[in-house]
Parts: sequence; C-alpha cells; structure tokens
Amino acid sequence: MLEIVQRFAEKGYQIEPEALEMIRSYSGAREELVGQILSNIDGSIVVIRAGHISDILSPCEGLVRHACNSEASYGVVAPSGAGEGLDVAGLHGSKAGDFHSLSGKEPCRPGFEVNSDITGNSTCVGEYEDFVRYFRDRYSKIREILSRRLNVRPIESLGKSMAGREVSLIGMVMDVRTTAKGHRVLELEDPTGMVVAIIQKDSELFEQSSYIVPDEVLGVTAVSDGNGRVFVKTLLWPDMPNQCKSLEAGTGFTVLTSDLHVGSKYFMEDAWERFVAWINGDVEDPSGLASQVKYIVIAGDLVDGIGIYPGQEGDLAIKDIYEQYEAAAQCLNSIRKDVEMVLSPGNHDIVRQAEPQPALPMSVQKFFSGSMHFVGDPAWVTLEGASVLVYHGRSIDDLVMRVPGMSYNEPEKAMVEMLRKRHLSPIYGGRVSIAPEHQDHCVIHEPPNILHCGHVHTVGIARYKGVVAINSGTWQSQTEFQKKMNIQPTPAAVPIVDMATMKVKKLLFA
Ligand SMILES: [Fe+2]
Repeated sequence: MLEIVQRFAEKGYQIEPEALEMIRSYSGAREELVGQILSNIDGSIVVIRAGHISDILSPCEGLVRHACNSEASYGVVAPSGAGEGLDVAGLHGSKAGDFHSLSGKEPCRPGFEVNSDITGNSTCVGEYEDFVRYFRDRYSKIREILSRRLNVRPIESLGKSMAGREVSLIGMVMDVRTTAKGHRVLELEDPTGMVVAIIQKDSELFEQSSYIVPDEVLGVTAVSDGNGRVFVKTLLWPDMPNQCKSLEAGTGFTVLTSDLHVGSKYFMEDAWERFVAWINGDVEDPSGLASQVKYIVIAGDLVDGIGIYPGQEGDLAIKDIYEQYEAAAQCLNSIRKDVEMVLSPGNHDIVRQAEPQPALPMSVQKFFSGSMHFVGDPAWVTLEGASVLVYHGRSIDDLVMRVPGMSYNEPEKAMVEMLRKRHLSPIYGGRVSIAPEHQDHCVIHEPPNILHCGHVHTVGIARYKGVVAINSGTWQSQTEFQKKMNIQPTPAAVPIVDMATMKVKKLLFA
C-alpha cells in the first residue's frame, strides 16, 4: 500500500485511510483504479477522501465528460503519468464519441461537442521548470501566428553588424514602462536573448503602445543600434485574421449567461423564475424565441461560494457550499430537458482558483440532472458548427487596470483586447493566478465564432473581425460592495444568439 500512497504523493495528493482501504479492497485491477482516480480527480483537491473514490467509481458520472472529451482536438495536454494511456471511456464500457448526459439517459445533441479544456489533463506541479515550459509554450504558439506575417530573426543575432539595419522580431514583453522623458521602453525576450525596444514619445506608435501589457507576445519592426537596443517603427499584434472562416449554418438559439451567484442574498430568484417560465413556454412568448433555444452556456460563478472575499458571510443566504450547489441545481434542473447546458466554473466556484480551472467536481455534479456538460475554464465547445470559447473573464480585472480606455461598464472592449492579443489572460502576477501547465490553455489558437465571458456583471456585446464577443452579465443585484465601488451591474439581462446568423438579442427578465 506504501507504493499507492507514494504514487498519489508524487502527484501532489494525500490520501485518507478510508480511501486507501477502498483501493486495497477493490476487487478489480488496483493499478487501473489508481490511474482512473488520478485522471478524474479534481486538481484543486489536496486530500483524496473515500467520497471522491465513490464518485469516480460511479459508472454514469465518470462516463460523461471523458466520453465527450475523447473527441478533443486542441490543447489537451497528454497527462504526465496521471492516467497516461488510460482509455477512460473504455473502462466505463463506452466507446469514444458516444456522448451522454450526466444522467446517462439522454444522448448529447448531434450539433454539440466539447473540444478541449483542462479537466483531467492538468500537468501542473508548480515548480520553476513548469513556469519556463508554460511561457515557452505561450511564446511558440503566438509566434507561429505572427510568423505568417513577419519574417523575423532571433534576438541574439542583433550584433554590431546589424547597427542601422531594419529588423523584425517577435518577443514576449518582460517589462513595459515609460521613462522620465516620456518615452516608452519595452524589454522583449525570445528564447535566444533580450533586447530593449524604444518607442519615442513623439512617434505615431506611442498611443498604440499604451495597449501593450506585460507577458504578451507581439511583433515589432525596428532599427537596431547594434548594441542591445532597437527603435520601433511598427507594432504587430497577433490579432484575428481580417476574414473569418465561413460559418456552418446552424439552427436554433443559444442563451449565454453567467454569474448566477446562487446562495447570495442578492441572487435574483424571481427574475430567474421568470426566465425559466419563459424558456419552458409557461408564459406567452410573442417573439417565438423561447421554443427555439437549444443550448444554454454558463460562463462561471454559478454559486456565490464561501470565503471568496472578506466579510462575505454577511452577504450569504446559504452558508454551506454544497447547499448552494443544491439550490443552483434546482434552478437549472427546472429548465426543459431538451436544452443542452454547458457549465464552466468561475472564481466563486468550488474548483482551484488558478487558471485554467477544471470542471466542477463530481461531488457537485451529482446534484444536476438533464443534459448538463461540465467543462473547465476556459473551454472550447462547438454548438451547431460554431466554435464557442467560454472563459469566466477574471483577467478583465487586470486589463481594466492596465489598459487605457477599458472599463467594467464596457467589458466587451477588454474582450476585444483578448482577441487582438490572442490570449485570454496575458498578464502574469496580477489578479489572475495562473497555473503553469505545460501548455498555455489561454492562447486563442484559432478564431472562435463566439467569445463568451462573465465575471464583471455587466452585459457587453461587440463584433470584432467576425468574432462575436459577449459578456453575459449576472443574476445578482448590486451588492453593498459594488455600491461602494460604484459598480453598476446589469442583472437579469440575457444575450441570446441566433446560431444561423450569429445575430445577438438581449432579453430582460428583471
Ligand atoms: Fe467572477
């Protein structure tokens, strides 16, 4: 049994005696069971308890997301040891691609697919080498996008012989600052070296350069001084292509929502019930839209959580996290069963705070019925042929603080910056805590049709180079904290997308 304890310890888990006993008395192949536990366990858990193992051994629950994820096409990191080579779907007696709902009764709609997220694929240990690998992966992915438009040279080649010559470089921004004389100075790094890039205050680029944030990857053309400095002539962000791939004509409508904050005193239960009555066809619907809703995507903060901010107890109507999820499940379970739902977590949910976040754990998933699909944050899903990138949006806090012109009232502007930077959460060391996975799951590797965020409690809708960027608001009314901070939420306003045309409407249930 020592070997088993050791195996869990190597992956950063402790195991309680009851759980160890469950493994010891398991009648099947123990090694297979350990692999299964390691590949299914929620990465935020420190101590593996008997309940976690019971959840994993439950055949229906384990089946769901791994069957869906077995079709993964991007960003799925090969598990490093944890469950490596394990055919999870096979273990559960189901074929890959054989999609099922949580209840195991209803098949996923043919137009629905989970493409990738972090759940069950975390490689993060948090050692120095992990950070090196994580940033190298970010650099190489974004460099590949930029290389299509720039013929670049490595930074190490900028010797004396290059003095006065124009060069193109792709670098990660190690630092960006304004000098006492008002010039902007970047420290740009690539795997071969570092260079100081100067944007003079009277340059046409100066205003553009105020959008540069630390740790993003961008391209420059510049004149080298042959001595470790370059004077920037153009800035190039990876950006979205000008022409987007054509969209398969889907059918029906998708509701995008987020930040229910069930359990908070400020959760707008009446408004939610009006929404449910509408979608279920229990009230008159002159628009005829309700019956055409095929999907609901929730971008995090399903519950208010506990201990998220100082003094939160005073704002809670339900003080137990599991009771909060039971109440949230009741809210969603009352929606008609032919609507497929995608649930991604946020910073108030019961998963690790560091991004990327895994899907909600089985101990919570069990409260939900119907066609629920639990995905990580961020996650790529395909609905009716349209690719939807779901991200809670915590990085909007950092972007609002760093980039001029960004505000909580217009979150879509920060989302457009994400698209331009081809990264959901570029700044390291700000509000967002980043888990150094071997791959950077926050790179926007291809243009999505829809980018869906939440977090800031304000509805914002923009169309940028063929991508529809939608922040889906909240179901929580203005809290005392928000009043003090002068934050004006737009609760109970629901963006709904026509999957044939990508046109967006905003419905009000307040
Ligand atoms: Fe949030």
